Amino acid sequence: MSRETAPENLMPLEAIAELEALAKEIAKHDLSYHQKDDPEISDSDYDALKKRNSDIEALFPDYIRDDSPSKRVGAAVATGFSKVTHALPMLSLGNVFSEDDYREFVDGVRRFLKELHDDPAVPLEMVAEPKIDGLSISLRYEKGIFVQGATRGDGATGEDVTTNVRTMKDFPETLPDDVPDVLEVRGEVYMSGSDFLALNAAQEKAGQKIFANPRNAAAGSLRQLDSSITAKRPLSFFAYALGEVSAPIAETHWGILEKLKSWGFPTNDETTLCADTESVLAFYDRLNTGRAGLDYDIDGIVYKVNRLDYQARLGFVSRAPRWAIAHKFPAEKATTVINAIDIQVGRTGALTPVARLAPVTVGGVVVSNATLHNEDEIVRKDVRIGDTVVIQRAGDVIPQVVEVVADKRPATSEPYFFPETCPECGSHAVREEGEVVRRCTGGLVCPAQAVERLKHFVSRNAFDIEGMGGKHVEGFISDGLISSPADIFRLAAHADAISKKEGWGGKSVENLIASIEERRTISLDRFIYALGVPQVGQATARLLARQYGSLDAWRSAMRDAKIHGSEAFGDLTNIDGIGPSVAEDLIEFFNEEHNRVVVADLEAQLTIKDFITPDTGSSPIAGKTMVFTGSLETMSRGEAKARAESLGAKVAGSVSKKTDYVVIGADAGSKARRAGELGVTCLSEQEWLELAEG
Ligand code: IVH
Repeated sequence: MSRETAPENLMPLEAIAELEALAKEIAKHDLSYHQKDDPEISDSDYDALKKRNSDIEALFPDYIRDDSPSKRVGAAVATGFSKVTHALPMLSLGNVFSEDDYREFVDGVRRFLKELHDDPAVPLEMVAEPKIDGLSISLRYEKGIFVQGATRGDGATGEDVTTNVRTMKDFPETLPDDVPDVLEVRGEVYMSGSDFLALNAAQEKAGQKIFANPRNAAAGSLRQLDSSITAKRPLSFFAYALGEVSAPIAETHWGILEKLKSWGFPTNDETTLCADTESVLAFYDRLNTGRAGLDYDIDGIVYKVNRLDYQARLGFVSRAPRWAIAHKFPAEKATTVINAIDIQVGRTGALTPVARLAPVTVGGVVVSNATLHNEDEIVRKDVRIGDTVVIQRAGDVIPQVVEVVADKRPATSEPYFFPETCPECGSHAVREEGEVVRRCTGGLVCPAQAVERLKHFVSRNAFDIEGMGGKHVEGFISDGLISSPADIFRLAAHADAISKKEGWGGKSVENLIASIEERRTISLDRFIYALGVPQVGQATARLLARQYGSLDAWRSAMRDAKIHGSEAFGDLTNIDGIGPSVAEDLIEFFNEEHNRVVVADLEAQLTIKDFITPDTGSSPIAGKTMVFTGSLETMSRGEAKARAESLGAKVAGSVSKKTDYVVIGADAGSKARRAGELGVTCLSEQEWLELAEG
C-alpha cells in the first residue's frame, strides 16, 4: 500500500483502494481495543491511521465509504454519537442557597440515619469539593484499561465520546494491577481560564467561532464529531465519583479520592474533609472569596457524606442523592434596559411575561431575555418598558428581573398593562381565584399551546427524539405535517416532502425517521410525562407508573377516580407524593374526550412498556402496598420507606383494603386499629427488619 504517498499525490483509484484498506484495518483495531482488551498498536499509530483516513477523505470526498471509520466518530454527515446506557445512572444534585438551607439538609440526613438523630454526638463527616463548571463524563475501565468515555446525557443514557476522550491528556489510559476488573470513574471535563482565553484568541485569529465561556468551550470541544479537533483543544479533568465498580475500593468518599489520585487521576486540591458543619461553612466562605483566584470556573460547593455505608442507606430521591448537595454561590447581577415585554404562552396556556433586554454579560454569558414571572410580579416591582433594571442569573436558572433602578426611569414611561386576551389566539385569558397565573382559555384552538405541547412531547426527558428540536416542531406544524403527537410517528410518509424543505436533505430526513422509529417503544413513566398533564413532572409520572404498572390500568383508574370518594380516587390521593390538586388535573385530563383520543391514537403507534419494579430479587414485599405507623426503634420513617421502595413495595399514607402489610412501631394509633378492623397483616419492627434484610 502506498502509505508513504502524500494524500494529495494519490490517484483516484489508489485513494479508493487505500480508504477500503484503512476502513478494514481501523475496524480491526477498534475491535481488538474495545472488545478484546488487547490493542495491537500504540495509540499514536492508531491516531495516525485515523488521520491518514480523514486526510484522504478530505481530498476525495466522493469516495468516502459508508463504513468509513470517520463516520463512526461522526464526520460532517454523521448521525452523531452512539448512545451508551450507563451501568449506574449519572445523577444530578439538589441545591441549597444559604447556610440555613445547608443546616436543614444536614438535619434531614441526621433524621434519616436515626442513630445520628438520637445521639447528636455521633459525628457526620462531609467532604467539601468545588463544584466545577464543566460537563460530567464517565470513564470506564475494564481490567485496568480505558474502554469507554460517555457523557451524562439524560442521566440514564449518554453519548459515546470514547474517541474524543482518548485525545485528552489529563487522565490515565491504563491503571495499576490492583484495580477492580470493572471501574467507572466519573468527574468533570472543563477548560481552565487561561486555556480558554488562549483558545478564543486563536479562534478569533482564525476567523472561527468565539466561545461565550469556558463551560461552552469545553462542551463544544468534547462533543466534536471530528476527534482531531478535540485533540487540539485544551481539555482538563477532575475525578470526583465512581460509577459501576466490581469491587469496593474504599469505605469513605475521601478514601475513594485518595485511591483515584494514587492511580493517576487528577483530583481537586481544594477538596477538604470536614468534621462538622462549622468547618463546612468555613470552607464555603473561603472558596467563595477565593474563587476568582482559581484558574477554573466553579459555581458552588458540593458536600458529600463521607461514609459510604451512610451513602448506601441514604440512597436517592428521584434523580439526586440524599447524601450530597450543591451549595450555590450567590447569583451574579448586572444592569440593563428593558426594550420590550413579550408574553409567552406555555403548553398549559399559562401566560408568562418575558423582558427583552439590551444584551448584557452576566457571569460569562450574554443575556438578552429575563423572566418577569407573572402579572403580580410586574405590578409589585412596577416594571415598565424602557426601565433600567437589575437582572440576576444563578447557575443554569433562567435570568430574572430583580428590581427597577427608579431614578433612571424615563419621564414618559407608562405602567405596563397585562393583556387579558391571549396574544397568540385572541381567546380570553383568565385568572382563577387564588392563582397567580393567567391562562389562555383557547385550549385546543390555541396554536401556541399546541406547539408547546408537541415540543414537550419530543423533549429530552419525554420521547427524546434526536434531531427534532423546537424549531423543527414549529416548522412541521406550520407545514401541516403534524398536529397531534401521534402524527410524529406517521412522519415517514412525508419523508419526500420534508427532504425538499430548506435545511433538510435525504440523509438528515433518514436520520430523523430513524430516531423516531427508535422511540416507538417507550417506558410507561416517560409516556405519562410526555403527555404534559399539568403538574405532572418526571417524579409524579414515575409515581403513577409505579402505582398502576400499565397504561391500561392507569387510564381506567383515572376514569374511575372521577367520582370523589370512589376507591380509585382514594388510591390516587393515597399515593405518597400526589396531592388533591395533582389528582384533579389528572382526572380532568382523562375527562376530556380529545385527550383520550390522543392517548388512544398514540397507543396504536407505540409499544408502551409496563413499569418494571427495580430489580428487587425475590423480595417478599415486591409489588406489595405497605403502611408504616408509629415510631421504629432502629430506623427512621424515611429510611424505612426508602428501604421498602427499593425492595419494590409501594408505600401508602393510610390503611385500606388494598394494604398488604402495616408495620407497627411504638405508640401506633388509629392506623394500627384500622388494620386490625380490616384484617390486614400487621408486622412488628422485628418482623419488618427480617423482611428488609432478607
Ligand atoms: S457529584 C451523585 N461533584 O454538578 C453525585 N458533581 O449538579 C453526582 N459537578 O452533573 C455529582 N463538580 O456535572 C459532583 N465535585 C463535584 C462536581 C459535580 C461539578 C457537576 C456534575 C453534575 C452536576 C450536578
